Amino acid sequence: MAATRCIVSRSWLRAEALAVAVAAIWLALAAPVAAQQGLPPPPDDEAPENFPDGKGRDETFYLCIACHGSALIKQQGMSRERWDQTLTWMTDKHGMPEPDAADRKLIVDYLATAFPPRQRGKPNPFLPN
Ligand code: HEC
Repeated sequence: MAATRCIVSRSWLRAEALAVAVAAIWLALAAPVAAQQGLPPPPDDEAPENFPDGKGRDETFYLCIACHGSALIKQQGMSRERWDQTLTWMTDKHGMPEPDAADRKLIVDYLATAFPPRQRGKPNPFLPN
């Protein structure tokens, strides 16, 4: 009897060791891949209407939302030049397909109009006017 129990508990140990090994392999292989992709998938309820109305809204939406949610873009406020650099960054570093010149202009114009630079917070009361 004692011997049987011993075998049972050893096979338990083996199952545990296997689970640990599987977890370790997952951490080693799968986790870095997930981390590389960098961003959580866009939420399912995305629609062009999540962006302010304007010329180029749909083109912008469908290009950018392939990889991230509209919130990531809406939280930005940038000059046209900075938006233009952002598009270059997306194509060079993140594999965004390069839009043709006309689309690129449309999209950068839209972004600069819909999400212009913002003044953050209140003006500093201790600075001279
Ligand atoms: C092919 C995938 C892909 C496409 C398409 C794409 N992006 Fe990105 N974008 C990324 C990734 C990945 C990051 C995260 C970059 C990082 O944090 O290093 C990112 C980050 C950003 C950020 C930075 C947010 C921050 O926290 O500073 C902005 C802004 C942005 N994208 C704008 C855009 C705009 C605008 C478009 C459409 C014109 C677009 N992206 C299209 C992959 C993409």
